[in-house]
Amino acid sequence: MISVNKLTKIYRTPFKTGNVVKDLFARSYKEHVALKDVSFEIGENELVGFIGPNGAGKTTTMKVLAGILYPTSGDIQVLGATPFDKRPEFLKQISFIMGQKNQTFWELPATDAFEFNKAVYEIGDEEYKRTVGDLVDLLDATDIIKMPVKTLSLGQRMRVELIAALIHTPKVLFLDEPTIGLDIVAQSAIVKFIKEYQEKYKSTIMLTSHYMQDVERLAKRIIVIDQGHILYDGKLDELVAQYSNVKKIYVTLLSPLPHDFHLHDGVNFRYEFPRVEIDSPRSHLSEVLSHITKRLEFSDISVEDEPIEEIIKRVFTARKG
Ligand SMILES: Nc1ncnc2c1ncn2[C@@H]1O[C@H](COP(=O)(O)OP(=O)(O)OP(=O)(O)O)[C@@H](O)[C@H]1O
Ligand SMILES: [Mg+2]
Repeated sequence: MISVNKLTKIYRTPFKTGNVVKDLFARSYKEHVALKDVSFEIGENELVGFIGPNGAGKTTTMKVLAGILYPTSGDIQVLGATPFDKRPEFLKQISFIMGQKNQTFWELPATDAFEFNKAVYEIGDEEYKRTVGDLVDLLDATDIIKMPVKTLSLGQRMRVELIAALIHTPKVLFLDEPTIGLDIVAQSAIVKFIKEYQEKYKSTIMLTSHYMQDVERLAKRIIVIDQGHILYDGKLDELVAQYSNVKKIYVTLLSPLPHDFHLHDGVNFRYEFPRVEIDSPRSHLSEVLSHITKRLEFSDISVEDEPIEEIIKRVFTARKG
């Protein structure tokens, strides 16, 4: 479905050297290598989380895959096509959605933008009705699509953006930070929608987000990129197994911690009554738990993986070192 082989993208930006003669007769360029030999494959109906820090190359990669940018070199196939040929048959099967950028018309209600896209993508009346009806239901957007877009909240705007971008039921979807700037409730609604949409329409989705909860809730597979290089490509749970050997144990105590309380060598804990937070090595988890249950009186206890943010940070430092 998506096949990327040794994709390299170098941005060349013109700049003035300050030397009048030089600037007059030849342009000087500053080069920035945004992607270097990036390779991966994404199959049909896969949802892949694409993560990495600012400037890692996520948007650049997706723009190349969507045919918005030319690659400097590399072999890229999306749906059997070369994206930057920009053939209409190709463009009709993809969609690129950016959280920070609005595509719908500002002064008008969203329905006008839907109609516009209907014409652009040459969608029949029946199909248009069915798809819009379905998307409006999934996004709970009956009322907001009739209001001028400029009067909508950020979260509402994202919902109508999604409808506009999905009217032609694209096979491949590039979602670039669809939840950026949204509050928890709006964010959660978008995530739920993406999940339901993908299950129903069986689309292939590449998603970037700086919110790890989005990625955890949506993607089984992740690709981690930094400075134009791929650091990890695989299942999210295998990343956890590979890079995290710690389980977090959270205990809520009924009485203060005994002064002589200690755990195995090397097992750290933080304590502020009534809460104890323990970093237990996975290999010692059952011993640590049985020690706690024998020694302490508590009202609550839970065992969790380390937060995914922590684990990802470790991937970056491990590969850099
Ligand atoms: N039009 C451009 N001209 C020159 N350099 C660019 C251009 N667009 C991006 N870059 C540079 O390429 C690198 C990758 O940028 P990109 O936007 O792909 O990163 P990103 O992973 O999407 O980051 P973010 O998380 O901040 O969105 C950055 O160093 C950026 O400054
Ligand atoms: Mg970006």
